[in-house]
Parts: sequence; C-alpha cells; structure tokens
Amino acid sequence: MRNDTAVMEGVLRSATMHQEWQENFLSGENESFYNRVFDDFFQSLRIAPGTKFLDAGCGPSHKSVLLAQRGCEVDAVDFSEFILRQAEKYIRDKQLTERIHLQRDNLLALSYPDGHFSHVLCWGVLLHVPQVEKAIAELARVVKPGGYLIVTENNMRSLQLVVQRRLRRFFSKNVVRFERKPSGLESWRETDVGPVLARQTDMRWFIQAFEAQDLRLCQHKACQFSEIYTSLRSPFLKKLVHGFNDFWFQHIKNPGWALGNLFIFQKNNH
Ligand SMILES: C[S@@+](CC[C@H](N)C(=O)[O-])C[C@H]1O[C@@H](n2cnc3c(N)ncnc32)[C@H](O)[C@@H]1O
Repeated sequence: MRNDTAVMEGVLRSATMHQEWQENFLSGENESFYNRVFDDFFQSLRIAPGTKFLDAGCGPSHKSVLLAQRGCEVDAVDFSEFILRQAEKYIRDKQLTERIHLQRDNLLALSYPDGHFSHVLCWGVLLHVPQVEKAIAELARVVKPGGYLIVTENNMRSLQLVVQRRLRRFFSKNVVRFERKPSGLESWRETDVGPVLARQTDMRWFIQAFEAQDLRLCQHKACQFSEIYTSLRSPFLKKLVHGFNDFWFQHIKNPGWALGNLFIFQKNNH
C-alpha cells in the first residue's frame, strides 16, 4: 500500500496524467455542468460569500475558481508541483489571486489544525488515492463540528462501469492489475510514466468510511451519469451524452446507476 502511494505520487509529479485529465474534462459543456452542480449545493447549504473552503486535490484549480467566483475564500492544495504551477497561472488569468491561496500539501497528512474549515471540497481525487481511508480521516479531521464535506466519487455499480466490466476485452487494454478490495474495484492502468490507480468505488463502503469519522450523510445524488464522452470522437455524440448528464442531474437525480456520485457529509456537533 505504501509502495502504491509512492507510485501514484511519482506518476502525478509529471505532466502526463494531468494533461490527460485536462483534455478529457476541460470543455465548455463540463464547465456549464459544474456551474449547475455548484449553484445547486451553494443553494441547498446556503453558503454565504466569505465562507472559507479547502479544495483538497485542487489540480488545475478550476473548482477553486468556481468557489471564488461565488465569493468564497479558498485554500487550494495538491501534492503535484507541476499542476500547482498551472493552477497559479489559471488563478492569475482569472484575477482571483486575492481569494485563492495555493499550497503544496498531501491529503494523507494535511498541514492544517483540527476543525480548521467550515467547508471542504474534494472533487474526483479519492479514487486515485491508494490509502483512501487515511485520506478520508484527514479530510474529516480538518472539518469543524457542524461543517460540511462535499465529495465526488465514481460508482462501481453505475451502468457505465458494469457495462465496461462486461466488455473488459475492449476497455481494459492497458489494465495491469484489477483487484477487489472492501473499498471497491481497484484498476491500475499502465501509462508512459507508470501505473495509475482509478478505483471503482463501493458506495456503501464509502459512506460507512465517512460515518466512522464522525460525519453524517446529508445528501447523496447523481453527478455526471456517464463520462463516456471521453472515449467518443463525434462532437454530436459527445453533446448527446452531456445533454443526458444534464437531464439526469436536474430531473432524475438518482445516484444508483450514475457514474459520478456527489456526497455532502456534515461533521457531528457533540
Ligand atoms: C483527477 S484530478 C482532479 C483535480 C480537481 N479536483 C478537479 O476536479 O479538477 C486529481 C488531483 O488530485 C491530486 N492528488 C492525488 N492524490 C493526492 C494526495 N494524496 N494529496 C494531494 N493531492 C493529491 C492530483 O495531483 C490531481 O491534481
């Protein structure tokens, strides 16, 4: 496990995976989807301007910018120096340097004191963390009693992943390790810079892991129904998937078959 952690840290030091994620997820359609999701949780949690957020595993800081554009003060942390340099440029371009403070930090040992944040966001990160329980404990530690933790994760039982596992021959060309763990199915894919973990998470386990850290589940809903647009060439088909994702998020909301699941946990107030 410790070795897997070092492997992931090594891979994420270089550009390769960050560039792949940016190619896959930075698009106009995704930007408007994320804005919709942020509007939704800002409204339901009644988040006021000036609220202090931790964006844990901020990557290029696009989610930090969405928080800052809604008036929040953000501490954005990531352990990859490479992506922090890109984030710095993006924040400068958006003229949000006053509201977003970037720092190199590791989810496995955050440098903040207990209960430092009223709100913590961790978007699309935990699925890439081998020692996921340790990261969950750290995230829970820095939330203040009564505060909120907003997390997204990929659902092992989603339609997309169930179908992909059935058609494994076509979808798992570079998979070098595929293991069932209590946390879900760990899939390690070989890349030019080394093996990369993407966990297909068992949502029951996931919720229990947060509950064990004195957090209670307040909301569990669908995020993107599918990310199959990342494998499609046709702009028309991509648009169709994004349209369906919007429809599912706004009208169906059920997370059961959706790939992306969004959770809001609240730290218990004793
Ligand atoms: C898929 S990207 C998501 C980035 C961002 N949250 C977003 O939604 O655009 C995952 C990010 O988590 C970071 N990360 C992974 N493990 C981490 C750890 N243990 N500590 C800090 N950052 C980590 C990676 O460097 C990467 O930037």
